[in-house]
Amino acid sequence: MREKIDTILQESKSFEIKSTTDLENFRLKFLVKKGLVNQLFQEFKSLDSEEKKKWGKELNIFKNSIESFFNEAQNELNKNTTDSEGRSENSFLPGYYNELGSRHPISFVMEEMSQIFERLGFSVATGPEVEDDWHNFSALNFPSNHPARDMQDTFFVDEDIALRTHTSSVQVRLMEKGELPIRSIMPGRVYRNEAISARSNCFFHQVEGLYIDKGVSFADLKQTLYNFVQEFFGANTKVRFRASYFPFTEPSAEMDIYLGTETESDYKLTKGTGWLEILGCGMVDPNVLENCKIDTKEYSGFAFGLGVDRIAMLKYGVKDLRTFFNNDKRFLDQFAGL
Ligand code: DAH
Repeated sequence: MREKIDTILQESKSFEIKSTTDLENFRLKFLVKKGLVNQLFQEFKSLDSEEKKKWGKELNIFKNSIESFFNEAQNELNKNTTDSEGRSENSFLPGYYNELGSRHPISFVMEEMSQIFERLGFSVATGPEVEDDWHNFSALNFPSNHPARDMQDTFFVDEDIALRTHTSSVQVRLMEKGELPIRSIMPGRVYRNEAISARSNCFFHQVEGLYIDKGVSFADLKQTLYNFVQEFFGANTKVRFRASYFPFTEPSAEMDIYLGTETESDYKLTKGTGWLEILGCGMVDPNVLENCKIDTKEYSGFAFGLGVDRIAMLKYGVKDLRTFFNNDKRFLDQFAGL
C-alpha cells in the first residue's frame, strides 16, 4: 500500500498542468470514479480490519493532497487567463452577453422613405445643418423682411447664420453645383424655435425631393408622390392635393392622406377631418432657378418636402413625439430588430 500511495503521489506531483486540457487530463487520470485514487480506495475495501485502521487515515491524506493539487492548479490557470479588466476566461462560467444596438425608428422611417425614391431613380444628397441666410431663405425667394420668413421660427447663430429650418436649403446647394439634370432626395434634421409639446418639437426631420430637367411638369410631381404613397402607406391609400403657398414654389400644394377618424380619440392626428397632411410641394419657382443660375427657358422642376416624425408616429402608434428623443432605453428597446 505504502508503495502505491507514494508512486501515485509522485506521479501527480510531476504532472504538468499548463492548460485546461492538461487539467482535464489530470482529473481523468486521478480523480474520476475509475481514476487512480479511487482504485486504491477499492483495494482498501478488501483489507482486513487491522490493515484498514493502519491505512484509512493515510489514504484520506493522500486523496486530499491530490485534490488540493488539482484545485491549486485550477486556480492558477484561472489567474493566468484573466484579462486586463480582471475578467476570467474560465470556461465553466457563463459567457458575456453583448447586447445588440438597434436603429432609431426615425432613422429607419427616413431610410424606408429614401429607398422608395431611390427605386424611382432619385439619389441621396445631404447638406449642413448650420446654414447661411442665402441657402435657407434668400435663394429660396424669401426676400429679407418678407412676411413668409415668419412662417418658420428660426434659431439664429448670428445675423447671417442659422440652424436650417427646412431641408429645402440643400436644394439650393445642389442647384448651385450646376450639374443638370437633378433627381435627388435630401433627408435630414431641421430646427425651429417652437414650443415643445406632444405634437411639436424644436427639431424634427424632413425628406426633401428635387427634380430638375427639361419639360418636368406638375403631372410628374403628382405621379411621383402617388407612387410614394402607394408604396409606403399601401395601394389603396386615398390622397388629396390642396393649393398652398411656399415662396420657393409656384404653384404650391400640400398633400394629405386619408386615415379616417377611428384613431382620433387617441392621436388627435387629423383634428377630426380624417385627413393628415404629410408634405408640401410644388413647381420650383423660376426666381429660385435663376438664383441658382439655371436657365428657366430650358429647365423646369418640382420639389417636395415630407415630414418624417409625424409619419413615424403614425406608423408605430407613438402618441408623444418627445418620446422619440428622450433616449429612454425602455422605449427604444421596443424597436430592436429594425
Ligand atoms: N420647406 C417646407 C417646410 O419646411 C416644405 C416644402 C414645401 C418643401 C414645398 C418643398 C416644397 O420642397 O416644394 O415647410
